[in-house]
Amino acid sequence: MQTNSLWRDIDIETFPSLTKDLTAEVTVIGGGITGITTAYLLVKQGYKVVLLEAGRLLEGTTGYTTAKVTSQHGLIYDYLIRTFGRDKARLYYQANEDALKLIEQIQEELNIDCDFSRQDAYVYSVTDKGKQEIYKEAEAYEKIGINGGIVKNVELPFEVTSAIKIREQAQFHPVKYLHPMVQYLKEHNTPIFENTRASDVEKGELLSVITREGNSVTSNHVVMASHFPFKDFEGMYFSRLHVERSYSIALPTNEVVPEGMYLNAENPKRSLRHYVSEEGEMLLLVGGEGHVSGQKENTKECYEKLQSYSKEYFNTDQVTHRWSSQDLTTLDKVPYIGPVSRNNPRQYTATGFSKWGMTNGTIAAKVISDLIQGSANPYAELFSPLRRPGVEQAKNFALENTDVAKEFVKGKLESRKMEPENLSPGEGAVVRLNGKRAGAYKDETGRVYLVDTTCTHMGCEVNWNKAEQSWDCPCHGSRFTIEGEVIEGPATKPLKELKKEGER
Ligand SMILES: Cc1cc2nc3c(=O)[nH]c(=O)nc-3n(C[C@H](O)[C@H](O)[C@H](O)COP(=O)(O)OP(=O)(O)OC[C@H]3O[C@@H](n4cnc5c(N)ncnc54)[C@H](O)[C@@H]3O)c2cc1C
Ligand code: FES
Repeated sequence: MQTNSLWRDIDIETFPSLTKDLTAEVTVIGGGITGITTAYLLVKQGYKVVLLEAGRLLEGTTGYTTAKVTSQHGLIYDYLIRTFGRDKARLYYQANEDALKLIEQIQEELNIDCDFSRQDAYVYSVTDKGKQEIYKEAEAYEKIGINGGIVKNVELPFEVTSAIKIREQAQFHPVKYLHPMVQYLKEHNTPIFENTRASDVEKGELLSVITREGNSVTSNHVVMASHFPFKDFEGMYFSRLHVERSYSIALPTNEVVPEGMYLNAENPKRSLRHYVSEEGEMLLLVGGEGHVSGQKENTKECYEKLQSYSKEYFNTDQVTHRWSSQDLTTLDKVPYIGPVSRNNPRQYTATGFSKWGMTNGTIAAKVISDLIQGSANPYAELFSPLRRPGVEQAKNFALENTDVAKEFVKGKLESRKMEPENLSPGEGAVVRLNGKRAGAYKDETGRVYLVDTTCTHMGCEVNWNKAEQSWDCPCHGSRFTIEGEVIEGPATKPLKELKKEGER
């Protein structure tokens, strides 16, 4: 079994790190769907762009997604009408439908073969409560004019109490879709740098992105397509985003796999789609088991639950690939796309896609590239991070930040008795070292890696992620390797390496 995403089976070319200072018109930070699409749209218009990526291109959430391309974001439209009114709810639907069309248009422009196929998207329920929610959602579909509604039958191998669909949505292979855009950028002399982490943006007449190694890219505009905005203090993004981690598995099956893409209304979530491999093998993709990042002790259990679900309903548990990743949700569930703050109109953020970033990330690229070009965009106001907070935002702000405060205190008070010596090979845990909380991991050769568990973002205490073998922060989702190197932000600095007393 591959403990890697199905989409990352493809080799993509590597790019060098930035080793000197550069200038450009636009600096794009982040090589996922948002950053690559933004760079593509701007370069197509003749802009001089530099693309910076902290790790490898498409190794962020985009390489670890389920890749449904749809406007059906769970049961969201009844909520959006109640929170924002009918017109804005309709605008949200249209924005995502436009993104789907843009994805098709880009495939035509670059002659991309990315296993794109039109599929209906379904949300189904298995309880009466779920059924009621689906019926409310159906009313919202009617009010907005969504191309879909309640369906009587679904092809699933278990009883459902109701189901609702949106017609003519899609699924694809995200890396096959985005890699040709990277090649286009290269052919159009766009400098691309990997293993180049942006750590600051200095403001003046122009904006200078400073990398961790101390080089800079100076430009008129900066796009933070870094998933979590790495400069999150301006605009207080750390207090306005909720981070959730979820799990996916791929399994070959001889059973009939239903056409269409599915998600349930209830918890725990189960997300289903299919994929036909290069060898022509039918694979079932099952996702779910989401939890707040860094707040679950036994993450291996999440994969096991998806596996037993697959066995129960699809008669297969032969997992070929398993992967997990995390995504961010804003306080009102509508992404933040646009200028980071009123005082900084040429630095943009695109975040909070609520696990629907194939369309949301694409529309973000369109909105931001239009703003940079000075063109009107019908969705700019809806997604603006500067929108006035409503009641929903205020309520979720309190909930989110109470949870962060609770995790901060819990981490500081927690006392563990385990000593690093007691770890088994391949095991990681929070231990006591020289009388203090520390993180320890023992590799298969018996070498022990010790890190300070205080997160370099805002000081919460990181926890061990058993399945992914990483140190994950329960406050805003930063993740670190066993040596303490940053895997994903908002943190930009590594965890401090520790030594045992008497060791140098
Ligand atoms: C389990 C799961 C399933 C999902 N399934 C779906 C789905 O079916 N359909 C759908 O529409 N959406 C889905 N999503 C959501 C979607 O995958 C994401 O919203 C989307 O991929 C985010 O893209 P992005 O480009 O914004 O971020 P990423 O793909 O994470 O790219 C950001 C990049 O920025 C880089 N970076 C970060 N900080 C810095 C820095 N300081 N300097 C330089 N580079 C930096 C990172 O290394 C990363 O490569 C899913 C999400 C999850 C977690
Ligand atoms: S991610 Fe914010 S404190 Fe760790």
